Amino acid sequence: GITRHYKFDIKLQNVTRLCRTKSIVTVNGQFPGPRLIAREGDRVIIKVVNHVANNMSIHWHGIRQLQSGWADGPAYITQCPIQTGQSYAYNFTIIGQRGTLLWHAHISWLRATVYGPIIIFPKRGVPYPFPKPYKEVPLIFGEWFNADTEAIINQSLRTGAGPNVSDAYTINGLTGPLYNCSAKDTFKLKVKPGKTYLLRLINAALNDELFFNIANHTVTVVEVDANYIKPFETDKLLITPGQTTNILLKTKPSYPNATFLMSARPYATGQGTFDNSTVAGILEYERPSNLSHSPISIKKLPLFKPTLPALNDTAFAFNYTNRLRSLANAQYPANVPQTVDKRFFFTVGLGSNPCPRNQICQGPNNRTKFAASVNNISFILPSTALLQAHFFGQNGVYTTDFPTTPLIKFNYTGTPPNNTSVMNGTKVVVLPFNTSVELVMQDTSILGNESHPLHLHGFNVFVVGQGFGNYDPNKDPANFNLVDPVERNTAGVPSGGWVAIRFRADNPGVWFMHCHFEVHISWGLRMAWIVLDGSLPNQKLPPPPADLPKC
Ligand code: C2O
Repeated sequence: GITRHYKFDIKLQNVTRLCRTKSIVTVNGQFPGPRLIAREGDRVIIKVVNHVANNMSIHWHGIRQLQSGWADGPAYITQCPIQTGQSYAYNFTIIGQRGTLLWHAHISWLRATVYGPIIIFPKRGVPYPFPKPYKEVPLIFGEWFNADTEAIINQSLRTGAGPNVSDAYTINGLTGPLYNCSAKDTFKLKVKPGKTYLLRLINAALNDELFFNIANHTVTVVEVDANYIKPFETDKLLITPGQTTNILLKTKPSYPNATFLMSARPYATGQGTFDNSTVAGILEYERPSNLSHSPISIKKLPLFKPTLPALNDTAFAFNYTNRLRSLANAQYPANVPQTVDKRFFFTVGLGSNPCPRNQICQGPNNRTKFAASVNNISFILPSTALLQAHFFGQNGVYTTDFPTTPLIKFNYTGTPPNNTSVMNGTKVVVLPFNTSVELVMQDTSILGNESHPLHLHGFNVFVVGQGFGNYDPNKDPANFNLVDPVERNTAGVPSGGWVAIRFRADNPGVWFMHCHFEVHISWGLRMAWIVLDGSLPNQKLPPPPADLPKC
């Protein structure tokens, strides 16, 4: 591979959407941010220079960061933030990965505007395991807030009220024709008839899983989270924050005399943190030259509208997710751990916080002290980075007593218990190098069922099983798929159900795991794993780079 250099200048930029102009934090003045493009095997060095008043930190979501944990980016986990006027060069090599990922700010809610695509091409001369597309187009979904998102989350944490929802969803930063005062900000995909397009879908929304489809077209899903899958056809799909999905769109064989809306709107299982609106873009067929003098103007062409699943269509979400299977062939094997060294059972969800006076209470309701937690622990970010504390053996920053099962005993039969009691802490799990881990995550909540897209930094996980209701440790493992489970970096815990994942802890460092709904991260649905060095030289975390930011 080669070395590719990027410079990300963090600066303010005025952007107008929904007829209001707002100053937002951007990379290089661009919204969404620039594309990071590389090939498998390349080294990438991104020099991030912070020119704004906010602290900054950037995460390369889904990049494995093998032996480069210092470049992962979550603030106070692998690094201290880049302060105003300072810079940090993220330096990593892309090993064994190709496909679509995303980068985003990983501090507070700044990823609302600081995000962009990562596109990793296969090594030179290595083809895709599907027909070569005529063209490739990234479609990155986001959320647009008229108000300042830092003010929104700060107010929510201060008052205990749920944060305001966004004012629009976006495709490539554009809100589309279905919102007021927005038609001119519409993403338009111009295509030719009879061609295959590779669409790289990325969900960078803060708080919403999204359904997506294109009117009157079926697509073939070929990759998720930069892992090839067994191709299948569908006319709608689901993508959670943090997930990516590559689809092939084969355009109609001849000019259709119509235009087609493509649209995305939320799949919402919880309460309150979504707005029931739709972002649309336009799929427009380029008029063949022999039709160029046709009297019909494109504006008058019929417009086909897509039909998306209902807002709370959990059955569709579950069945769609079940269809995703690793390619699992000789060239792209699925290295699913067949044996397990260590088993974990985590409850994830919202619960109440008794809130001793010396602790911080986070959550949407000050009176009953709701908080989000994993195994009844609402994770508190430390004031120095965990990775530094771990590497330099600094005491008092975290404790290693994160429980393998919930603090409140989970009754595997009967009704899922209310995850009612939550304690605050900065607790981690320590794993010896190469531990084979099985983790079952169970949705619990006193607010009702809610799906949670759980993202693990530094690894891909194999999704070996999922189900509704309570996980049954005596029955469910018999049905685990250890042959071709989907491999990904963000796995959904189904609403009112559970998901089982496996991964091998072959990457030394400190690795954040959290729900990729930003509001749930803020409320504490997050924890960290420490993976110890192995004995061989290539199994050790190297020392930090000299420019690593200080707290
Ligand atoms: Cu994409 Cu820790 O996040």
